[in-house]
Amino acid sequence: MTRVLIVNSSPNPDSSVSRALTEHFAKTWQDAHPNAEIVSRDVGLAPLPHIDQDTIGAYYTPEDARSEEQKELLALSDSIVEEALSADVIVIGSPMHNFGITSGLKAWIDHVARVGLTFSYTENGPVGHLGGRKVYVLTTRGGAYSNGAPAATMDHQEPYLRTALGFVGLDDVNFIHAEGMAGGTGGQDRAVVLIEQAISENLAVAA
Ligand SMILES: Cc1cc2nc3c(=O)[nH]c(=O)nc-3n(C[C@H](O)[C@H](O)[C@H](O)COP(=O)(O)O)c2cc1C
Repeated sequence: MTRVLIVNSSPNPDSSVSRALTEHFAKTWQDAHPNAEIVSRDVGLAPLPHIDQDTIGAYYTPEDARSEEQKELLALSDSIVEEALSADVIVIGSPMHNFGITSGLKAWIDHVARVGLTFSYTENGPVGHLGGRKVYVLTTRGGAYSNGAPAATMDHQEPYLRTALGFVGLDDVNFIHAEGMAGGTGGQDRAVVLIEQAISENLAVAA
């Protein structure tokens, strides 16, 4: 059985394109893997709090030295990390906001990147601990930034996510972009096809 964690990060409750894409992913995956368990976390409609200085202090306090208050402060982050750890596949719906990710997704990453838990500093530099999971990032963008588009250098979404996810060990990351949404639904239609292709390719590799 595979467990798929879907992380949505659009603040749009009614007509979110990225949420439609993650729903299509979940349904197509479930059809291909009837025993799969789908778990959802919506950090767009139910944003996580920004990490404050007390929480950061608790992150950097060794586990056996943490006060009861610090343990309580870490409970939410612990549960977010546990969701990621217990998933085999992570699917992230990521609208582009101001050339990067939404603030909701940034807060999720700030709760996932935990020193000593999801990454460690070693003699050989930082090492991430969430490896072995496949990640699909389904982006939505008003403009176009991929495949050598003139605005490619303005894309701080894919490069940032590759770095931040790679830092915690998530280095098997597949991006599917729904681009040019300001000009119509063609980009969404192409993304739907790419999602179906990615899931059937994954099925063929696993077989
Ligand atoms: C606050 C805000 C900022 C945006 N910034 C960008 C941007 O920098 N570049 C871009 O191409 N589209 C931008 N867009 C357009 C969205 O990426 C696009 O509408 C996308 O489909 C939103 O995904 P969603 O429908 O899942 O929320 C922005 C939209 C909003 C609401």
